[in-house]
Amino acid sequence: MKVLVTGGLGYIGSHTTVELLNNGYEVVIVDNLYNSQIEVVDKIKKITNKEFKFYEVDVCDKEKMKEIFDKENIDAVIHFAGYKAVGESVQKPLMYYRNNLDSTLTLLEVMKEHNCKKIVFSSSATVYGSPKELPIKEDFPLSTTNPYGTTKLIIEGILKDLYKSDNTFSIAILRYFNPIGAHESGLIGENPNGIPNNLMPYIVKVANKELDELKIFGNDYDTVDGTGVRDYIHVVDLARGHLKALEKIDKENICDCYNLGTGNGYSVLELVNAFKRVNNIDVPYSIVGRRDGDIAACYASTDKAYKELGWKAEYGIDKMCKDAYNFVLQGGSKWKKNVISVVQKTKTGWKYVSTVEIN
Ligand code: WQD
Repeated sequence: MKVLVTGGLGYIGSHTTVELLNNGYEVVIVDNLYNSQIEVVDKIKKITNKEFKFYEVDVCDKEKMKEIFDKENIDAVIHFAGYKAVGESVQKPLMYYRNNLDSTLTLLEVMKEHNCKKIVFSSSATVYGSPKELPIKEDFPLSTTNPYGTTKLIIEGILKDLYKSDNTFSIAILRYFNPIGAHESGLIGENPNGIPNNLMPYIVKVANKELDELKIFGNDYDTVDGTGVRDYIHVVDLARGHLKALEKIDKENICDCYNLGTGNGYSVLELVNAFKRVNNIDVPYSIVGRRDGDIAACYASTDKAYKELGWKAEYGIDKMCKDAYNFVLQGGSKWKKNVISVVQKTKTGWKYVSTVEIN
């Protein structure tokens, strides 16, 4: 089966591509490098020793996407590409609506024109807003508190309406909780440009002395120690959930949503202390005021994914913390200064050829 992975050089996309290649799928990546690095192509090849196609193309570019679908006989799509910073979405809502909705509508139109009807969509637990009870089940009320989350909710609605109009589509909507960690090789991982918004990449940069101290946003929540509780899931577990969803939509014509979490909630302080313990390193922090838009606690009911996809997370918080820091220790988060990627101009964009070290 040939799978098109949009945003396949990004954090979750690259880990999912590794799992796809290791399980015998053919992969075509489309990525515009807005929030990823071309060196990830080489790193995926190093990890899997497998070939795959990469097109540096923006999913919003309908002509280029048509050319790719004309050229590649795509059987299914996993759609990661999209802007995903909650805070940035509040500052730049039009940019988020334009990009996340335009890219998805373009992709779905081109898929339909090419009779490609299987899609796994990267959604988010953000669509649940502030839950009234825990753990969160897929049939809970949906509400969003920021434009990023609203784009995810709107796209879920687009997919449901598409399925109602044409049930030869088969659609899995995956609602991620908090993905952290990295592939055990340390070659790929979470490598946000600039100051991280999310907790784990911030902890990693403090541990690595790239930032002075972690600011913990509030310790007056109604939780075990007053700090925010989240359902952290290893990114490799999350990636494997996509393969189970792919199997499901290949076997049956559905349109359904699944939580991808562990079902366990950890507070900020519990995560910080686990990180310090398993990596034997200090993480200086101070408690500051709450962050706007934060909720007290959020963790998943995982029953539906287990019953219907045959998937459950395997890795615990210690491995997540170990692998997250190993990515930095292996130099994965630093792009070598003396390396260039050789690319070849093709009709539909740029084709990665190789990486060359400059001495
Ligand atoms: C986790 C906890 C913070 C940073 C976001 C998106 C969500 C999803 C996952 C895409 C909270 C606290 C954080 C810091 C802190 N992304 N924190 N200091 O907000 O749960 O979810 O990422 O789908 O859509 O909303 O993740 O890592 O930002 O925060 O104290 O410097 O860590 O208050 O309790 P969040 P997060």
